[in-house]
Amino acid sequence: MAEPVLEVRGLTRRFGDFTAVSELSFEVEKGEIFGFLGPNGAGKSTTIRMLCGVLAPSSGEARALGRNLFTEADQVRARVGYMSQKSSLLTDLTVAENLRFFGGLYGLEGPRLTSEVEFRLREMQVWEHRDQLVASLSTGERQRVALASATLHRPDILFLDEPTSGVDPLRRRLFWEAMDELVAEGMSILVTTHNLGEADQCDRLAFILGGKLMAYGRPRKLKETLGRQVVELRTERFRELQLAARAQPEVLAAELMGRSVRLSLPGDLEPATLLTRLRDAGFRFEALPSEAPSLEDLFVDLVHRSRVA
Ligand SMILES: Nc1ncnc2c1ncn2[C@@H]1O[C@H](COP(=O)(O)OP(=O)(O)OP(=O)(O)O)[C@@H](O)[C@H]1O
Ligand SMILES: [Mg+2]
Repeated sequence: MAEPVLEVRGLTRRFGDFTAVSELSFEVEKGEIFGFLGPNGAGKSTTIRMLCGVLAPSSGEARALGRNLFTEADQVRARVGYMSQKSSLLTDLTVAENLRFFGGLYGLEGPRLTSEVEFRLREMQVWEHRDQLVASLSTGERQRVALASATLHRPDILFLDEPTSGVDPLRRRLFWEAMDELVAEGMSILVTTHNLGEADQCDRLAFILGGKLMAYGRPRKLKETLGRQVVELRTERFRELQLAARAQPEVLAAELMGRSVRLSLPGDLEPATLLTRLRDAGFRFEALPSEAPSLEDLFVDLVHRSRVA
């Protein structure tokens, strides 16, 4: 196993009586893209803000690059990059002016600053926008400029908080290609997303809910441990079939997908009896071969289980 660049132990943040982040422990390995997944309010941004030194933790420890992130912050900060959920770019400056400004904060100057700015803007494919005001950029362009700005000082660890929210699928892919290039340069990335296709591309994922770590591991492993199977029933009477399926005791969930009903069933169940019962009730459908559960199934399942518990 590669050495961890970030080790988080028992990280907790309370706001008054409310615990936003509760006893979180995880590790990010060198050169990996580590995904942070969870519904709105789960505590993702709060965690990142503590790890970037923007917010003090209530308790817990974090080590990054062999140093204590909270007590030796000055030694580590220069090696950390952060792109916040709300872009910190200055909208009334041009792209190049923004990069020169943030580069200056990182201590870059002179020809080195000029060459780093050009290198990053070209890498992120926004070089041709360098003289444009940030306010006039499209969302996709703005997010790539923000990524350029967060990486000017060549950090070892990069925290990206929902960097692709509002970005179209094509530009999203462009953004992920840029992230792959940064990893190839040796960076390790912790990224939050609500896009489950993106989550699937991460090396490992942490799923958090109510500030707690609910599941942790490689996307494929997480789906395997879900312990369910998914069967899709194609039918004309999809709404009625959905209701009928939901009334069956072994059906965990029945969701509509186009003209199909997507059934989630326990992994060890043989579905034939259930399907016969539905056919006996007068439904005609085609049962499509069961496919592997998706991350979306995992997401829905974890949220559902936490409500039941
Ligand atoms: N300064 C604060 N004071 C009080 N409560 C806060 C503060 N900052 C965050 N919270 C609360 O902590 C919880 C977690 O918020 P956080 O922003 O970390 O969620 P998130 O997982 O990033 O959600 P989203 O997906 O919507 O970005 C929320 O309930 C939020 O209201
Ligand atoms: Mg957030």
